[in-house]
Amino acid sequence: NDLLQIAIDGPASAGKSTVAKLVAHQLGYVYCDTGAMYRAVTWAALKRGVKLDDNLALEEMVAEIKISFTPSDEGQRVYVDQDEVTDDIRLPEIANNVSTVAAQLSVREALTKRQQEIAFKGGIVMDGRDIGTTVLPDAQVKIFLVASVKERALRRFKENKAKGIMADLEQLEQEIAERDRKDSTRAVSPLVQAADAVKVDTTMLSIEQVVAKIMGIIQKKS
Ligand code: C5P
Repeated sequence: NDLLQIAIDGPASAGKSTVAKLVAHQLGYVYCDTGAMYRAVTWAALKRGVKLDDNLALEEMVAEIKISFTPSDEGQRVYVDQDEVTDDIRLPEIANNVSTVAAQLSVREALTKRQQEIAFKGGIVMDGRDIGTTVLPDAQVKIFLVASVKERALRRFKENKAKGIMADLEQLEQEIAERDRKDSTRAVSPLVQAADAVKVDTTMLSIEQVVAKIMGIIQKKS
């Protein structure tokens, strides 16, 4: 029974982490949220007052701090040195700055290496933007998850509301579209569908339907 590498990429709020967690759970695999790593670096840079587009300063910072992740099927707990940042990295301040940090080559190199180590043995579901293209180009299963901007903004709106964060739907829509634009147009590892990835549009599908669809794709490959 081979332990597969499963890569799930796609734009912001397409449902990657929800679905990836459930797929990992069904398979007894580890789930790894690579977006959380970029968010943790952004959190540290904001805390230390490091300029978010200073490639060299970020390289030094990433080498100095210890970012640790405890993967689990509940999602990862994320630490920067002694601070647990699991909840803080979901705040809008991080969401609106992370794409700038994620565009820096030094940050991408450091995190990509770490992600490859985590996925090395297989038995992993990893979600992000460049997993199928750059981090795990040989992954046996590659999914590209998409949904309309309107639907993704609505999902984020409901998520925020459940956490007691009030947001403006139209503003969320603009922020998501802006993050898509930055992630898709950056020079290093932009968000793009891998040639051998299967596109799944979740706009009209329930979480259960998306999971069933992905499990079907996995079964065909294994
Ligand atoms: O998935 P999530 O929305 O948490 O990702 C946050 C940000 O981290 C993305 O908007 C993107 O800029 C960056 N990211 C990335 N490569 C990945 C995962 C996330 O550039 N593999």
